[in-house]
Amino acid sequence: MLEPITQRRYLIPFNAARLPLQFTDVLVIGGGVAGLRAAIAAADAGAEVLLLTKDTVAESNTWYAQGGIAAVLQPLDSYESHIHDTEVGGAGLCDEKAVRIVIEEGPKRVLELLEWGANFDKKPGNAHDLAFTLEGGHSFARIIHAYGDATGKELAQTLIRTVRSRENIRISETSFAIDLITDEEERATGSLSSSPAPSRCLGAIALIDSQVQIIWAKRTILASGGAGQLYRESTNPRIATADGHAMAYRAGAVVQDMEMVQFHPTTLYVAGASRALITEAVRGEGAYLVDRNGYRFMGDYHASKELAPRDVVSRAIVEQIRKTHYTHVYLDTRHLPAAEFLVRFPQLAKLLEQFEIDPAKDLIPIHPAAHYMIGGVDADDYGRSSLPGLYAVGEAGCSGLHGANRLGSNSLLEGLAFGARAGLDAARGAKENNIKFPIRLDHKIPPSTKTELDITDVKSSLRSVMWRNVGIERDGPRLEETREIIAFWARYVMDKVFVPNNLGSAAAVAGWEVQNMLTVGALIANAAMSRTESRGCHYRLDYPATDNVHWRLHLLWKRPIETPIPDPIG
Ligand code: FAD
Ligand code: SIN
Repeated sequence: MLEPITQRRYLIPFNAARLPLQFTDVLVIGGGVAGLRAAIAAADAGAEVLLLTKDTVAESNTWYAQGGIAAVLQPLDSYESHIHDTEVGGAGLCDEKAVRIVIEEGPKRVLELLEWGANFDKKPGNAHDLAFTLEGGHSFARIIHAYGDATGKELAQTLIRTVRSRENIRISETSFAIDLITDEEERATGSLSSSPAPSRCLGAIALIDSQVQIIWAKRTILASGGAGQLYRESTNPRIATADGHAMAYRAGAVVQDMEMVQFHPTTLYVAGASRALITEAVRGEGAYLVDRNGYRFMGDYHASKELAPRDVVSRAIVEQIRKTHYTHVYLDTRHLPAAEFLVRFPQLAKLLEQFEIDPAKDLIPIHPAAHYMIGGVDADDYGRSSLPGLYAVGEAGCSGLHGANRLGSNSLLEGLAFGARAGLDAARGAKENNIKFPIRLDHKIPPSTKTELDITDVKSSLRSVMWRNVGIERDGPRLEETREIIAFWARYVMDKVFVPNNLGSAAAVAGWEVQNMLTVGALIANAAMSRTESRGCHYRLDYPATDNVHWRLHLLWKRPIETPIPDPIG
């Protein structure tokens, strides 16, 4: 049924011999925390690095991160405690090795940021003179932050500055990676075989300066971020269209845990405004959740009340909205010291002011929204994917750190830890590489015979259907309906070739993004349909219990196989 998605290898036809070429040791696709940190590590290990970002380097999920970075930096905290919290949050699906790596190496990566000039908020007398806060699921106040609620901007600026200080890193902004290139067609006898010969990743085909170009890379690191734009209600910026997940899947890399999409409980709910995140740290500092009747309801759902894990809080909000026959609930910050609130959350205070909401006097209307893609390209303890030559880090990858549910502020830490590991390993691998570039690659796509669909309309309809049917609460009939709808759109849209010459660059990019979103939407819906239990952020109304006997496993997906491959834990 999902044939157009599983059969498509490349989004455009090309003959590598006829395109402008670039060569590099390590290609990094993505300039958020994971890509920037990987680029620094690769460059410091002696590699020539090319880093692509589809927008400016400042436009990433990383830039918008608010709450902070979780790390064991204080004498009374411990690795074991952070590991325990992460694994409890992960609901039985965490990869123990990945958890230990990130939590034990993370503090070093954070201290290094201080050396590179990062200005995290201070509290003299504390460990490293840093201020720490608490977030849901953490049993210790171990979250550091910058400028109150602007942690991501400070982190990104520090890493960008460090990247720019390295002569062997080139940044290419507004450069859209279309596909990863592999040599399976070259190795197989003739055209695309249904079971291609083992292949290697050799770089990417990308739109740079309005020209389709081939980048031959000895190693490629995918750090292309998340998939939040797949949902109508989302905290993610425009760039988060799941390009990396789709590219890797087309190239034959294994992706896993695609049903695990995390929803953030608190985004500002003002009709007509975009869903701006309200950091969990607001609840960490003591804010309550109340319904339209002013009732503080979280005690009815979890002993940790407002600081319960995110999946619990998001579902509780949905339930309370249902019970009170309303559209949203509220954050109540009126009991918090007003002057301190303004200093601690300056970005939020500014945002609320725009909507004439005074946090000292008014309730703040909120609603959950899609926030973080836990599933991604299956990656090992150096970020290596199943496809030789390809690494996947950050939100594009799936190291297993987060299991079935991510703890707040663990994501930036993961990007730092695995970014550094992947960059180092990629630089080492590039030195050993003996592939002679360029290689003959000639990919043809027959012209489409199908009618055109309006791409903008497909995109907004896809986002609505994903929110309605593959959101916080799921069930078999609605997931089946979603699979059918996506398969229908895919039959038309996946069949098309969007090329910049005919369309202009922006329209071609929009077409590729929708193709990527359809591919990943199908993978998420399929995986959610397959997992007939509830676990972490995957909640099935028709299978509400967690089933540790049959379902303590990952679901792996590999093109062109259309059924999941179970991968039991341990
Ligand atoms: P990103 O930072 O999203 O970077 C992706 C990069 O890939 C971008 O440079 C983009 O241009 C590039 N890219 C994508 N597709 C292509 C393509 N086709 N071609 C070329 N380039 C491409 N986590 C925490 O731990 N703490 C927090 O406080 C926190 N707050 C958050 C607040 C918000 C509003 C959001 C949205 C997320 C928050 N998160 C937080 C999550 C965290 O920010 C992200 O998970 C993390 O930043 C992801 O980093 P990344 O490097 O994987 O991807
Ligand atoms: C937030 O600040 O609430 C987001 C933190 C995160 O997603 O890790």
